[in-house]
Amino acid sequence: MENFEFYTPTTLKFGIDVIQDLPQTLSTFGKNVLLTYGGGSIKKIGLYDQVQNLLKDFNIVELSGIEPNPKYESVLEGARLCKEHKIDVILAVGGGSVLDCSKAIAAGACYDGEPWDLITGEVETKAALPIVDILTLAATGSEFDAGAVISRTQTNDKVGYGSDYVFPRVSYLDPRYTFTVSKYQTAAGICDAMSHVFEQYFCGVHTTLTDHLCLAVLKSLVALGPTVIAEPENYEARAEMMADCSLACNGILSIGNSASGWPLHAIEHALSGHYDITHGIGLAIITPHWMRKVLSAETLNRFELLGRELFHLDGEGMDLANRTIEALANFYASLGVSMHLAKEGVDDKRLGEMAKHVVDNEGLDQAYVPLNYDAILEIITNSL
Ligand code: NZQ
Ligand code: ZN
Repeated sequence: MENFEFYTPTTLKFGIDVIQDLPQTLSTFGKNVLLTYGGGSIKKIGLYDQVQNLLKDFNIVELSGIEPNPKYESVLEGARLCKEHKIDVILAVGGGSVLDCSKAIAAGACYDGEPWDLITGEVETKAALPIVDILTLAATGSEFDAGAVISRTQTNDKVGYGSDYVFPRVSYLDPRYTFTVSKYQTAAGICDAMSHVFEQYFCGVHTTLTDHLCLAVLKSLVALGPTVIAEPENYEARAEMMADCSLACNGILSIGNSASGWPLHAIEHALSGHYDITHGIGLAIITPHWMRKVLSAETLNRFELLGRELFHLDGEGMDLANRTIEALANFYASLGVSMHLAKEGVDDKRLGEMAKHVVDNEGLDQAYVPLNYDAILEIITNSL
């Protein structure tokens, strides 16, 4: 077991009507609020009006139109608004993209230079405005972690940013707000959270404790997946999915594990950076191909445990491992995932360019199973 440090200062407020104390929470930071949201789903579900009613005594400035795979332009605009209106606190209402963008805005608002320098880590983040969020889509775990992912279209960059300063102070999770999430985005959310677990489970140093923490979240997602797709307003299934997603990405599942390099996310970032595809769907498609590539005598026991515990498969060895990968691919397909990048708008013209982007930007030569250009290209090509 490796030495570890674990820090999570975010308060989760989970359940029906938890947002009623939003005014008290925000007033501890001040009266000037930047309300950030996406393309309008929060208006359709009535949450925008609810927030406006609760915040009658606050000065609200709005930043709307934050896109999936949030773009750097929104970060710049948000940071500008914060400075101009002397914002005290950011209230992010939406999915992972709105939360991520708000984290970069919070840091950018406290920095005089180019916020991109903070996002790339070239300049250390030394301060950020407080962030409170109301989550409307269970997937990324952004509500319970210090990470954000920001895209810059001109350079095809999709860059992971992290700082303890951007942990949300309070995250409100009312599962009913996720009832309207489409089947496609719901499937993407399940696949994203499962991928977060795989990125921690597939590593060199692990323990019985972390293996079974990981398996607990995976089992829950596999068990409830079909229900949330078939019954989008099933509260218990939506609630458990929301809790799974929060736990999947905040590091608690891998305390004392060695680093894995998060290879699936590294490759997916290149796919989204070049083709703007949906994060969780991209991950689901490449995962079985990555698994086949890294399966070896050294990694075999990871697959065998997964097959036995998650899919109740018998047998052993390479045969069990291959059936495990097949079972996972079938599970993703059963959620409605196309399982082909070509069906998500990726063509064969930039495969090499994307593989090179991963090599140049993500350092997968240090991953649990190191991947070079040829290996990455093979995974992407087989995923097409
Ligand atoms: O923009 P609106 O109108 O709100 O619509 C959104 C968007 O079109 C819609 N939506 C959200 N809540 C809804 C809803 N539709 C109906 N009812 C609701 N209640 O769903 C669409 C997708 O939203 P988005 O926020 O993009 O999805 P998600 O939460 O999956 O976030 C994906 C982003 O998070 C990053 C991804 O790379 C991607 O950019 N990630 C962030 C991580 C983190 N901070 O730790 C880790 C992840 O690995 C991931 O990389
Ligand atoms: Zn992810």
